[in-house]
Amino acid sequence: MPRAEMLSRVADKDALIPVITDRVDDEVLDAAPNLKIIANIGVGYDNIDAAAARRRGVIVTNTPDVLTDAVAELTWGLILGVMRRLTEGDRVIRAGKWNRWSFEFMLGAGLSGKQLGIIGRGRIGRAVAEKAPAFGMTTVFARRERNGAAGGPLAQWNEPERGAGGNRAEAAAPSAENDMSLDQLLVTSDVISIHAPGGPDTRHLINRKALARMKRSAFLVNTARGSVIDEEALIWALNERLIAGAALDVFEREPDVPAALKAFDNVLLVPHLGSATRETRTAMADLAARNVIAVLSGNPPLTPVP
Ligand code: DGY
Repeated sequence: MPRAEMLSRVADKDALIPVITDRVDDEVLDAAPNLKIIANIGVGYDNIDAAAARRRGVIVTNTPDVLTDAVAELTWGLILGVMRRLTEGDRVIRAGKWNRWSFEFMLGAGLSGKQLGIIGRGRIGRAVAEKAPAFGMTTVFARRERNGAAGGPLAQWNEPERGAGGNRAEAAAPSAENDMSLDQLLVTSDVISIHAPGGPDTRHLINRKALARMKRSAFLVNTARGSVIDEEALIWALNERLIAGAALDVFEREPDVPAALKAFDNVLLVPHLGSATRETRTAMADLAARNVIAVLSGNPPLTPVP
C-alpha cells in the first residue's frame, strides 16, 4: 500500500498489519489515534518505531518461530551455493562457456571440517547451528559484549528469547562453551553467518575493520538485515580479495543492489527470500492476524516485541 494511502486509511483503524517494507513511525501513529496494535508480518521489526508506539500505548507484535526453519534452510542454501559455486556454474552453462569437463575447473570450497561462526545466538542462529553437524562443520557463536574488538556498538545484538508461553521477553541464551569474542570468531571462522537483528545497535557491525580480520579463505553470509554489513566496506574487501566470497539475501537499500556487488562472480545474491515459502508466509500472516484478534478481544498479544 502506498504510504499516502496507508496514512489516510489508518485514520479510523484499531489495528495495523504492516510488512517489513512499511515504515511505521510517528507520522503513521499520529494519523491513527484509535490504533491499539501494530502486528508486523516479520520477525525483524526495525521498520517500526517501537518506542514511539510504546509511548502511545500501542502494542507491537512480530512473527517469531514460524519462520525460523525457512530462514535456516535458506542460509544453508546460500552457504552451499557460494562455497560450491552453484549459481556461478549455472551462469557458465547458460552462457555457453562450458566446453568440457576438466580436472581443475571451477573448484569450490568444501564444507566438511570447517568452522561456522554465527553472529546472533537467537532462534534462527541456533537453528542454523543445529544443521551444521550434517555437513561436518563445527559451530561457534559470537559472545555478546559491550566493546568488541571489531569495533562498533555491540551491546544487545542477539535476538531476544521468548519464554515457553511465547509471550514473555527474556534475556538471550546464556553463554555456552562454544562462545567466543566477535574478533576471535572473525579471525578463526571459515564461514560467518549473520543472524542478529537490524537497527542502530548492529548497524555496520561488519565494517572494514571486521572484514580485514576474516580469513582470506572465508565466506560471509547474511540473511538477517542489510544494515548489519557496511556494503561499501564489503565491496572493498572483495576487491582486495580479503575474503573468498559472500552470499547475501538482504541489502542496505533494498531493492537496490550495488552494481559493484553484482559484478563479483564469488558473490551470490538473492532478493530477501529468507522466509519466502508458501507455508511460512501463510503462518506469518496467520500469526499476525491472531495477534490482532487477541488484542482486540481484550487478551494479551501472543508474540509482543520486547
Ligand atoms: C523477517 O521476518 O524479518 C524477514 O526478513 C522477512 O522475510
